[in-house]
Amino acid sequence: MKDVYILSVETSCDETSIAIVKNGCEVVALTILTQMDTHAEFGGVVPEIASRMHTENITMVLEETLNKAHMGVEDVDAIAVTYSPGLLGSLLVGIEFAKVLSYVYHKPLIKVNHLIGHIYANKIDNKLKFPTLALVISGGHTELIKMTGDYKFELLGETQDDAIGEAFDKVARVIGLKYPGGPNIEKLAREGQNSYKLPLVANDGSYNFSYSGLKSAVINLVNNERQKGNEINKADLACSFQTAAVDELKRKLELALKKTNIKNVVIAGGVSANKYLRGEIYTLCQKYDAELNLPEFIYCTDNAAMIGAAAYPLYLKKDFADLELNALSTSDIV
Ligand code: KG4
Ligand code: ZN
Repeated sequence: MKDVYILSVETSCDETSIAIVKNGCEVVALTILTQMDTHAEFGGVVPEIASRMHTENITMVLEETLNKAHMGVEDVDAIAVTYSPGLLGSLLVGIEFAKVLSYVYHKPLIKVNHLIGHIYANKIDNKLKFPTLALVISGGHTELIKMTGDYKFELLGETQDDAIGEAFDKVARVIGLKYPGGPNIEKLAREGQNSYKLPLVANDGSYNFSYSGLKSAVINLVNNERQKGNEINKADLACSFQTAAVDELKRKLELALKKTNIKNVVIAGGVSANKYLRGEIYTLCQKYDAELNLPEFIYCTDNAAMIGAAAYPLYLKKDFADLELNALSTSDIV
């Protein structure tokens, strides 16, 4: 069969990224331009700044990707783009850019859901074996999904309030760490002990998650100690929070491993870059004889290569979008 090259565009949040992916699993070239330092000054992503920076940088990101691949847009078979979920203004920059490339170069356009992209990051240099349990853990999502085949999803559980990444970011801010909080909490937690008692989320026997109680408990603890004039051991608090946050994931994943007897697990999304979390989930999977697939670190956080990987099954099905394609801020996968 002829090789298929997909040029993919991702601009759903604060990374401007373009990739060329071969046959849905081999990254020929990838460029990620992060705006993190700009948004860090504001303690979080500022949507207007994000879309303006995407507009300013996207042409340069395309040129750099094509140079790395020694290819031109005329050499690829399709153009893929993230259309949902994300910041509307940011998504639109990528969508309009992809539409222009599709129109000018006469290439089919493929629309990709960002969360599905995170799951398909596991296809890069790896296998996505079905059936599988997929844990999607990012700044905006915490979902446990059962997949029985390509694009065959069943939502088992999701967060009832905050996403796990959001909780990491808010807790980080309260203890004075910079945005994005996740990696900084992880770093600090390595120097601490799990010594603070934080409340466990009530176990309702469902696959649903909850993070707002844990987040509020940390905020209240910090405020109470400050009022009393007591010092907080930030490293211990980071470690205690990270342990409790990962415990909540483990409880629900364990329930699914027991009940479904599925022997493949993938984790996806920015929070899956957390090494403590990766170790804990690995140990849990071993207990149930399940195989764990993990994306390489670079493919955990937002990147266009995962969008190219997720676009490939759609290319094979000729599931193409038209030039009416619009952005959607909420997800519509399951
Ligand atoms: O997938 P992603 O890059 O963007 C979204 O789609 O949301 O995920 C970003 C989230 C942020 O909340 C960030 O703090 C978190 O992933 N994150 C981490 C780590 N690296 C990124 N959380 C915990 N530990 C990490 N090492
Ligand atoms: Zn993401």
